[in-house]
Amino acid sequence: MDRLGDQDLRRTHNCGELCERDIGAEARLCGWVRSYRDHGGVVFIDLRDREGITQVVFDIPDDQDDASAMDRYRLARSLRNEWVISVPGKVRARGPERENPKLPTGKIEVLADGLTVLNQAEALPFLPDEFTATSEEMRLRYRYIDLRRSEMTRMLRLRHTICRAMRRELDAEGFVEVETPFLTKSTPEGARDFLVPCRLRQGEFYALPQSPQLFKQILMVSGLDRYYQIVRCFRDEDLRADRQPEFTQLDLEMSFCCEQDVMALTDQVLRAVCEVSGKVFPDAVPVVPYSRAMAEYGTDRPDLRYELKLKDVSDLIGGSEFKVFTSALAGGGVVRAICPPGGGRFTRKEIDGYIAYAGEFGAKGLAWCKLEAGAMAGGVAKFLTPQMQADLREALGAKDGDLIFFSADQPALVNKVLGALRARLARDLGLIDTDRLAWCWVVDFPLVEWNADEDRWDSTHHPFTSPRTEDIDKLQTDPGHVRARAYDIVCNGMELGGGSVRIHSPEIQKRVFAMLGIGETEAHEKFDFLLHALCCGAPPHGGLALGLDRVVMLMAGAESIRDVIAFPKTQRGTCPLTGAPSTVDDHQLAELDLKVIAPPKTDEV
Ligand code: AMO
Ligand code: AMP
Repeated sequence: MDRLGDQDLRRTHNCGELCERDIGAEARLCGWVRSYRDHGGVVFIDLRDREGITQVVFDIPDDQDDASAMDRYRLARSLRNEWVISVPGKVRARGPERENPKLPTGKIEVLADGLTVLNQAEALPFLPDEFTATSEEMRLRYRYIDLRRSEMTRMLRLRHTICRAMRRELDAEGFVEVETPFLTKSTPEGARDFLVPCRLRQGEFYALPQSPQLFKQILMVSGLDRYYQIVRCFRDEDLRADRQPEFTQLDLEMSFCCEQDVMALTDQVLRAVCEVSGKVFPDAVPVVPYSRAMAEYGTDRPDLRYELKLKDVSDLIGGSEFKVFTSALAGGGVVRAICPPGGGRFTRKEIDGYIAYAGEFGAKGLAWCKLEAGAMAGGVAKFLTPQMQADLREALGAKDGDLIFFSADQPALVNKVLGALRARLARDLGLIDTDRLAWCWVVDFPLVEWNADEDRWDSTHHPFTSPRTEDIDKLQTDPGHVRARAYDIVCNGMELGGGSVRIHSPEIQKRVFAMLGIGETEAHEKFDFLLHALCCGAPPHGGLALGLDRVVMLMAGAESIRDVIAFPKTQRGTCPLTGAPSTVDDHQLAELDLKVIAPPKTDEV
């Protein structure tokens, strides 16, 4: 075996760059043994690093008395998957019959004239190429193996490229990156806080920031004018494919601006992001008012890649004999419908499947009928007069072979049900052009939403969002109709970011707190620093935050946010790599003056 020396680490090339042009050159490569094939007399190694794969060949020496050449050959035969080696050699043509057109290096190979094993690897729990047969839990537990895959490297590098483009764009516009604290006080963004006990002030806790919202507003009061930060945020909420308990935002704030300024700047940043990701950003992003998004798509993050709009048919079928419809309308509800094209071919079992799916979103049922031979058939058709049938056809643009689903209930529930059903139907019917990116801005959100469980108004975004000037008089009298100066950027049905023009008047901030049931004492306890800052010469200001993980996921075409995060948590909020969260020892608890009352459930650790 060659002895390890500094020269072993001096690569001349990476494993993805040698090509025909280099034939005849000397090279030294370092990397991992991705695979080995021993053909008796010749050993082929696929050598991998983050840039690619190069084939390396070890021939049995012609002169078998050449002890050092024979040692090298024997060592090559002993190589195993994922060993780390350094190989010098000569680049040669593979010859036409052995070329691999799938690899950029597929026309050449390196004929080794040395070999140093830099490190061995034991039998791994799985090989990087075997990821499809490996559970996500295993992939996360042995993340250092999973991240050796070229696809994972591609995503991490794309993330880096996207962050760089964001920084470049904002830097050019005069934005200054400022760090804000992680050990801080709760900022209400609608989730539960992660708390950190404070050793020096026993019984007191820091909260990890759900976002830097208040700090960035205070930076505006301090005159910084234009702030941004690529920053980690922490929210203890139920996790989904596009949610993590710690995630990253591109957070920004600017002074002396209106909605359009922040939206135009965001478009500019996203255009740059698309450019470095090989995607096209539209010249003009459609702007959809919240009320239209809810009426036509049943959600405030509409997927505009397909039509399949909802239609309010309350007026058309109000006179029907169908009890479900009439009682919903009598109770102040609505009847809305959706018409999946070609849905007429759904079997009874499939229809029941959709009804069960609607049930998951709270629907008590789902009425339906089919369109056949110029009439309506099945389901609720018998309750619909010929006039109603004709009106429905026209309103929904329905034709023979289609089907109509109806949901009758309070508007919020009907929207939730039909919004979810719309997305499911589009998937099932193949209506989604998966190559497309369909962006939109959603605007004119209501400032607050009624929380029936808690019997109070909640902010739609957060309590620092400015109401529209012309709606300020309604703050006390008609809160549900106050519109916010807020905007969300949505792509393919996913909320990528959101922001608003903020309240800069302490008086209005107090009135909004009062409307949200945050009394004066509570407001002072939690937000005294903000209220005081607003009294000390706060400029009008506004901003937005983009969910960086979601942006990268979209640009990379990844299925899950976890694929674009180096060390993500599972759906249950655990980290299989480190074993977090974990218990701590009694000494640590004693120092914090804490006691664990309920022992952890071992199956959940
Ligand atoms: P908001 O709460 O809308 O706004 O968050 C902004 C964006 O962050 C992303 N995001 C998440 N991504 C992954 N996992 C999560 N758990 C998660 N939660 C949110 C979304 C979302 O659009 N301070 C305000 C911004 C402002 O008003 O300027 C805020 O945080 O893509
Ligand atoms: P039921 O009166 O519960 O027997 O329901 C009669 C039919 O109406 C069934 O096909 C139900 O799926 C449907 N249905 C029940 N509740 C609703 C509702 N809120 N909206 C639409 N259809 C409903």
